[in-house]
Amino acid sequence: MDQIVKFSNVSKKFQLFWEEIEIFEKINLEIDRNELVLFYGPSGSGKTTLLNLLTGLLNPDEGEIKVAGLYVDLIPEKEKSDFRSNYLGIVFQENNLVSTLTVKENIILFQELCDYKVEGKEEKIDLLLEKLGIDHRKDSFPVQLSGGEKKRVAIARALSNDPYILILDEPTGNLDRESADELCNLVEELFLTTDITVIVSSHDQKMNEIATLVYRVGSKQVELEEEHEERRKGEEIEYRPIDSLERGKEDIFIEEALLDPIE
Ligand SMILES: Nc1ncnc2c1ncn2[C@@H]1O[C@H](COP(=O)(O)OP(=O)(O)OP(=O)(O)O)[C@@H](O)[C@H]1O
Ligand SMILES: [Mg+2]
Repeated sequence: MDQIVKFSNVSKKFQLFWEEIEIFEKINLEIDRNELVLFYGPSGSGKTTLLNLLTGLLNPDEGEIKVAGLYVDLIPEKEKSDFRSNYLGIVFQENNLVSTLTVKENIILFQELCDYKVEGKEEKIDLLLEKLGIDHRKDSFPVQLSGGEKKRVAIARALSNDPYILILDEPTGNLDRESADELCNLVEELFLTTDITVIVSSHDQKMNEIATLVYRVGSKQVELEEEHEERRKGEEIEYRPIDSLERGKEDIFIEEALLDPIE
């Protein structure tokens, strides 16, 4: 199975006033396309930092990060948003929905910003909203939605431009038990029925029950704690080739980022 994420000897420090805090020291990770990966660990251990390194929102101080065949840290800053909008679906902890737009408009805006050009993209939004059980809310504004509904909208938006990887930072953090369980079931279903690799940071025990790989984040390290072969996707899932031309964006950054890093 092809590898979609690889961290090699990645280190990250933050400068906080006069103090330097080392969050990661030479971490290594390898994730294949058929995985649902959970990162868990105490608050402040670096889960969000890890996701931000993967998405190129932060640069490592040392080491290499490869995502979908690209060296993320080599992508020029101004082209990193293209990388994210072509390859990743990101759901931030705070959802980041635009309050003055309806559910559907939020997703249309996102597709526009990503320059997503595929026929029938509006129908795709309707299908996604249906799949996520919020089609009856498409004309509502974010303020009119429950926490669980907002999270579903943020997930629908993240999926609306066909990412290879769905990244969820603490998706059940602000939800009651029932909504959290429903959301975990939904994430599992999305994972099992599509070719998307899912990467989640969470404290939720229920996420622990669906993940194929469970990593513990802490003490500057990321350690593989559990591996569940039987939870992986079945053979019948067909994986889209990465970088396929239908995605419509063959920008130069891909070539630049594919160059071997300078020794
Ligand atoms: N930009 C920054 N500058 C300085 N320190 C930072 C910065 N971002 C994060 N940190 C510190 O790095 C550490 C890891 O933060 P991070 O947000 O990754 O933790 P987390 O595991 O996601 O925590 P939580 O479970 O509370 O979301 C924390 O001590 C945090 O204060
Ligand atoms: Mg966090």
